[in-house]
Amino acid sequence: MRIDIITVLPELLKSPFEASILKRAIESGLVEVHFHNLRDYTTDNYKSVDDTQFGGGAGMVMTIEPIDKCISALKAERNYDDIIYMTPDGETLRQGIANQLSLKENIIILCGHYKGVDQRVRDHFITREISIGDYVLSGGELGAAVLCDAMIRLIPGVLGNETSALTDSFQDNLLAPPIYTKPREYKGMKVPELLFSGNLPAIEKWREEQAYLRTKERRPDLLEE
Ligand code: ADE
Repeated sequence: MRIDIITVLPELLKSPFEASILKRAIESGLVEVHFHNLRDYTTDNYKSVDDTQFGGGAGMVMTIEPIDKCISALKAERNYDDIIYMTPDGETLRQGIANQLSLKENIIILCGHYKGVDQRVRDHFITREISIGDYVLSGGELGAAVLCDAMIRLIPGVLGNETSALTDSFQDNLLAPPIYTKPREYKGMKVPELLFSGNLPAIEKWREEQAYLRTKERRPDLLEE
């Protein structure tokens, strides 16, 4: 998979890709992530990427030209499955979307800033708009990092133990069950006995029940779907 991220703040985006699972995924060649500074596609001396709104109103709007130049340059090199715009009014990111996107070959992610981008960018270049939740961030960069993390860990081969993504919360519209490790007892706090029984079917059943109960208590909306 190749991900091209268009941003005015590449430095804000780099560190999540320089540690742990994302770093390993990149080093092992399972994913390529490229950052494009939108200012490199401007033509004026100030390298401006935004302007005032037509019709009046507070806040600056990202202009179409540098975005068009950047996206066109990328599209001239290869085909893209999706051109995603990070915005609070996009569809809310869920595990199912991360699953879908993790199977794509080439994706562009455009990070919004200020009031957002000129609507013509959204109408003519963008194929998908994604929000990471019902709150407004200062820009799309942190959202893009969240989206990339959620997608990249699902690419086959990225997680050492292939089954571990399958038992994540949300994977079957269920939250994950409780998990325990050593020591068996800590300051009087015990691990459920069943987990030492060696009875794998019973343990699996217990985990399923616990996942269901936790989901019913915390996220009943997931069970309704
Ligand atoms: N940009 C600003 N807020 C955002 C959000 N909630 N999700 C994605 N991109 C954003």
